[in-house]
Amino acid sequence: MNQPLHTLETADWNPALQPAIADAATDALENGQMLFMPRLAFAMSDAEKRFLSPQWSDGKAKNVSYDPAAQAVRHTSAEGNDRSALAAMMDRYAGAARALVSGLCPHYVPALEWGLTSFRPVSAANREASVRKDDMRLHLDAFASRPVRGRRLLRVFCNINPDGAPRVWEIGEPFDAVAARFRDRIAPQWPGSAWLLDKLHVTKGRRSAYDHIMLGLHDQAKLDDGYQRSCARTRLELPANSTWIVFTDLVMHAVLSGQYLFEQTFYLPPPAMRDEARAPLRRLEKIYQRALA
Ligand code: SIN
Ligand code: FE
Repeated sequence: MNQPLHTLETADWNPALQPAIADAATDALENGQMLFMPRLAFAMSDAEKRFLSPQWSDGKAKNVSYDPAAQAVRHTSAEGNDRSALAAMMDRYAGAARALVSGLCPHYVPALEWGLTSFRPVSAANREASVRKDDMRLHLDAFASRPVRGRRLLRVFCNINPDGAPRVWEIGEPFDAVAARFRDRIAPQWPGSAWLLDKLHVTKGRRSAYDHIMLGLHDQAKLDDGYQRSCARTRLELPANSTWIVFTDLVMHAVLSGQYLFEQTFYLPPPAMRDEARAPLRRLEKIYQRALA
């Protein structure tokens, strides 16, 4: 198995890296390694530390979410001044995450699209009732309501646990092995279904063949108890006050434990990669021998 981590010693959210170092970091990401920055912590003010409590989730969704484009926070119990302070903190994380990706992967800057920001104040070990939503099971990220049509999912995580608890993850087998193992279990996409899901606003935009296959891989891996018990994996303890970046559409991952995390999602069109042949879209098109996006 690939060495899972590519470690960078930066302690700065605006890292100034030599081009060769940045290119090596970008290649590591595209090859399925996690960029791991053990010394990169996100500073919170004393006033912001009040948000380190599960009470700020709305109780329905585990994660508080923030849309940097609309500057709107959702799924939180916070109101009034609390709500605007929470939004400001998440906005600052979003900006820091974007600056970080811009420094480490300057190649991506012109094409990098904003996704949502997530603040996770609830213990990750509270298992979800639904197997499909259970991120304690190894999976590739793919979202039923948000088609990406081949765009990459690049995510920046920061463990902000105040008691020094690590976020414990597992990393599974390489993408091509996952695709080969589960592809025959994915039901065909019914003609007209993508159009209908879009019309009914079940999806935000049209679900492509790529989205259908990625959702299939996500679901089939999570639903297979034997696979979850026995497949090859590496356990990672991601310490408090560390930051990591990973293409979660490429790397099989699961969270086992931890509490208090920031996450920022970016979308990246495959042509903006250093080598788009490494995108899940291109890998699947090679396997299926047809265009999928
Ligand atoms: C996930 O993306 O599957 C969950 C990651 C986490 O909450 O640590
Ligand atoms: Fe995930």
